[in-house]
Amino acid sequence: METLLTEKAIADRVSELGGSFTEIYRGRPLTVLGVLNGSVILVADLIRAINIPHQIGFVRASSYRGETTVAGQLTIDTDLLPDITGRDVLLVDDIFDTGRTMARLLDELQQYQPASIRSLALLWKPARREVALVPDFYGFQIPDAFVVGYGLDYNDNYRHLRQIQVLNPEEI
Ligand code: IMP
Ligand code: MG
Repeated sequence: METLLTEKAIADRVSELGGSFTEIYRGRPLTVLGVLNGSVILVADLIRAINIPHQIGFVRASSYRGETTVAGQLTIDTDLLPDITGRDVLLVDDIFDTGRTMARLLDELQQYQPASIRSLALLWKPARREVALVPDFYGFQIPDAFVVGYGLDYNDNYRHLRQIQVLNPEEI
C-alpha cells in the first residue's frame, strides 16, 4: 500500500487544527462530537491539542459497505449523544466523501438546538461531493482514491495504521 499521509504530517495538521479551535472556541461551551467509528483516533489526538475546557461525545453513522468501497444505506444512531442544547458543537468525521453522512448528521442534530454546529473532516475528497455543503474545516484535500488508516477502514480493518494509505484495487 502506498502512503498518502505520514504519521508526522497528520500529527502536525491535527495540532494546527487544535490550536485554531482553542482560539475559535475560547470562552464558549464546546462539545467535540465524533462520528463513530472512523473518528476515534482523530478525536483522541485533536482534543489533546485543544487547550480550553470542553466536552466530548459521539454519534454513530454507518453506511453499510461490507466488502465493497461503495456506500449503501445510511443509518444514524444518537443513543450516545450527550446534551448539546445551547452548546457549540464541532462535528468531527474521518472523511468527507460524498458528504451525505455530514449533511444528514448536521440536519438531525439541529433538533437538539445547539448554539452552533460546525463540521471538521480530516480528509476531504472534493471530486466526490454530492451535496450542497462543504466541511467548515478540513485537514487535507485528497484525490479520489480509497484510503485506510488513522481510523479509516476497509471492511472494518486497517483502522490501527498510524499513517493514511491508499488501498490498492487488487486488495479490494
Ligand atoms: P460520505 O460519502 O461523505 O457520506 O462518507 C461516508 C463514510 O464513508 C465516511 O464517514 C467513511 O466512513 C466512509 N468512507 C468514504 N471514503 C472512504 C475511504 O476512502 N476510505 C475509508 N472509508 C471511506
Ligand atoms: Mg467508515
